[in-house]
Amino acid sequence: MVVLRTTSEIETMREAGRVVARTLDAVAAEVRPGVRLVDLDALAADTIAAHGAKPSFLGYLPRFAGTPYPGVLCLSVNEAIVHGVPDKRVLRDGDILSIDCGAHVDGYHGDAAVTVPVGAVDAAGLQLIETVFAALAAGIAAARPGGRMGDIGYAIEAACRPYGIPHGWGGHGIGTAMHDDPHVPNTGKAGRGLALREGLVIAIEPMVIEGGGDRTRALRDGWTITTTDGSRAAHAEHTVAITADGPVVLTRS
Ligand code: MF3
Ligand code: CO
Repeated sequence: MVVLRTTSEIETMREAGRVVARTLDAVAAEVRPGVRLVDLDALAADTIAAHGAKPSFLGYLPRFAGTPYPGVLCLSVNEAIVHGVPDKRVLRDGDILSIDCGAHVDGYHGDAAVTVPVGAVDAAGLQLIETVFAALAAGIAAARPGGRMGDIGYAIEAACRPYGIPHGWGGHGIGTAMHDDPHVPNTGKAGRGLALREGLVIAIEPMVIEGGGDRTRALRDGWTITTTDGSRAAHAEHTVAITADGPVVLTRS
């Protein structure tokens, strides 16, 4: 069921979103060759707690996974697209890293992600990252009352070209649950799908795959989603409220 949120609920989600944004900033500032993923995760836990919020991902058990999520962040390196589990892996010069963070305040969630280069990344990798942020901006711009869900997917799909878009993965409604209705596809037809209304709050999260493939698989950890052919992927996400004034990004610091 699609729930529309009141102005005061959206204000609380903005507080959660602000914590998420600050946490992403703090973690991104520590990204460099030689850093372990677990240490970034610990920094995120501390930052969220210091702001009086709670992590959304830790212990989360959705239908698509067999075990509760073990981290605060999802950290997805290179061919990992999303839901990479923070482990003792050490970041290397030239890696690209998706940092995905969720936090809740008074039971209202915020969810956002960035992809950042580790040290010196080649031009193709930087272009991949730039494209996913452009796709996110295009998707956000389409999230306005009077529009349709297909407008968002269409805008994202157009901005992702010529990269591949992981089949079946997308964004989601968000509020008192981190994953809620509606699904927010990263492809679509303009003018089709759910009518976008004031009070709808969604996480928009484009993903792109270098080389144009769209196939994904889950690793044996039950969580990490990777490309099937080892191609690199990038991912970016914001939590966005659709308001009378247009889209409002709730996960901006
Ligand atoms: N932004 C990711 C998503 O919406 C967060 C997943 S959290 C996890 O899929 F706990 F499921 F990993
Ligand atoms: Co999300």
